[in-house]
Amino acid sequence: MKLINTLCSALLLSLSMAASADPIVIKFSHVVADSTPKGQAALKFKELAEKRFPGKVEVQVFPNSQLFGDGKEMEALLLGDVQIVAPSLSKFSKYTKKLQVFDLPFLFDDIHAVDRFQNSQKGHELLTSMERKGITGLGFLHNGMKQFSANVPLRTPADAKGLKFRIQASDVLEAQFKAVGGNPQKIAFAEVYQALQSGVVDGAENPWSNIYTKKFYEVQKYITESDHGVLDYIVATNTKWWNGLPEDVRKGLDEAMHEAIAYGNKVAFTEDDDFRAKVINAKKAEVIKLTKAEKDQWRKAMKPVWAQFEGEIGKDLVDAAQQANAK
Ligand code: LMR
Repeated sequence: MKLINTLCSALLLSLSMAASADPIVIKFSHVVADSTPKGQAALKFKELAEKRFPGKVEVQVFPNSQLFGDGKEMEALLLGDVQIVAPSLSKFSKYTKKLQVFDLPFLFDDIHAVDRFQNSQKGHELLTSMERKGITGLGFLHNGMKQFSANVPLRTPADAKGLKFRIQASDVLEAQFKAVGGNPQKIAFAEVYQALQSGVVDGAENPWSNIYTKKFYEVQKYITESDHGVLDYIVATNTKWWNGLPEDVRKGLDEAMHEAIAYGNKVAFTEDDDFRAKVINAKKAEVIKLTKAEKDQWRKAMKPVWAQFEGEIGKDLVDAAQQANAK
């Protein structure tokens, strides 16, 4: 009888411990505003994951570099201080040189070509290319094509000569601005507004959603519709943490993340034009349209960057990316 009582108490104790077990807390840190494609995808993931695992999973979203800026978020992921980040593809070169393919100027005709490449077999392989370094890519997420901006009108490459441009931490982007005689400076995203306002740099390159939500149009006189490159993301997690999750939870979170990414991508596809219109309607910066001849000049001036990085990236990837342009 005594044994039965002891067993019953042990069972009750373990049942009550299971019921009150702490939820799995997932910190999702990023650097942009909630209303951007990435911000929206992060919030959608929170909604879906918590709905699927009520009381068992808690997702905490930290936008606007609140928790970690882009200099620190990958480190934080590897240290287990956050569980999910979504840095731009330009910020992974420390972990794989292959992702530099996305920074090559004028490689993709538009965001749909980028989408086709990401969904190809070669694209999928890139998501797992950093697992040996402890990083698992859960999916690609769009933001949009980048536009040049500056305090002088940028119509031809000669206009960029001698200007200081803020860039993300990417050697390809550094080479891109050097190719037109610019002076690129690697600066964290959270510091860009101030760097533009105070004249630490003269110009930058950003997609419309970031130009609008971070108010870069207030501190740049001209924005050139160049669509010269892409700013997209990999939603990344810590491989060890991810693989250590109970299988049903990992599967459910993976599904929730894919749904959230599809949602963010829809925002990217459908709202890019709205963000552009909002920047134009604010009437602070003049938006410059390039003629085909002008755009060809930029393409020609920046194309040598491809040859410079093709060895590190792999010609197979550059070719596959180019093929994605064929409709
Ligand atoms: C940037 O640094 O310009 C971007 O990577 C910011 C972002 O996450 O969109």
